[in-house]
Amino acid sequence: MTVEPHRDCRLCPRLAAFRDRNKDEYPDFFNAPVPSFGATDARLLIVGLAPGLKGANHTGRPFTGDWAGDLLYKMLLKHGLAAGHYDKRADDGLKLVGCAITNAVRCVPPENKPLPFEIKACRRYLTAQIAAMPNVRAILALGKVAHDSVCDTLAVRKSQVPFKHGAAYHLDAVTLVSSYHCSRYNTNTGVLTEAMFDAVVKQAKKAALG
Ligand code: URA
Repeated sequence: MTVEPHRDCRLCPRLAAFRDRNKDEYPDFFNAPVPSFGATDARLLIVGLAPGLKGANHTGRPFTGDWAGDLLYKMLLKHGLAAGHYDKRADDGLKLVGCAITNAVRCVPPENKPLPFEIKACRRYLTAQIAAMPNVRAILALGKVAHDSVCDTLAVRKSQVPFKHGAAYHLDAVTLVSSYHCSRYNTNTGVLTEAMFDAVVKQAKKAALG
């Protein structure tokens, strides 16, 4: 199983059609399944929801170019999980340190809402990503979709590990740390504060790297 979907992956007809429309509307955007970012020998894997239309779907790098990325990369830089300068571009030279970032769904979904079928279809790539990371010790799931998809990937019953911000579940080989998604909506509504996100990134780093 390859870790990355084909650039013209058609497993999800709705997402492929949306991509085709976006190619017409935004011809200079990446407009393809967004590959994971970071090395496969990392000990921490961060799993997001799906590319944002004008963020990762534009730039071709997870969380790059939108509000969620501004907050995520700020925290990764703060905690030494990234080095360099984040400049909202895939070629800004930013390096991840000891972590990698992927999404539960690799293609941008309309209104940021992937359907259950699409999450399931794309899970093969999440499974392959985790399998390709022999040293992974912790997974930080951003949001319930990511949390549930990681549980399904690891064949863990969700009733035993319910999604809860700040929860850390010690599974066989990895610790699953869950967080509210660092979306603009969650931060604007106060569901997730910067302090809460700071603490959960620190927690995930500790679980992965000690
Ligand atoms: N960008 C991503 O790549 N993933 C998200 O979950 C949100 C924004």
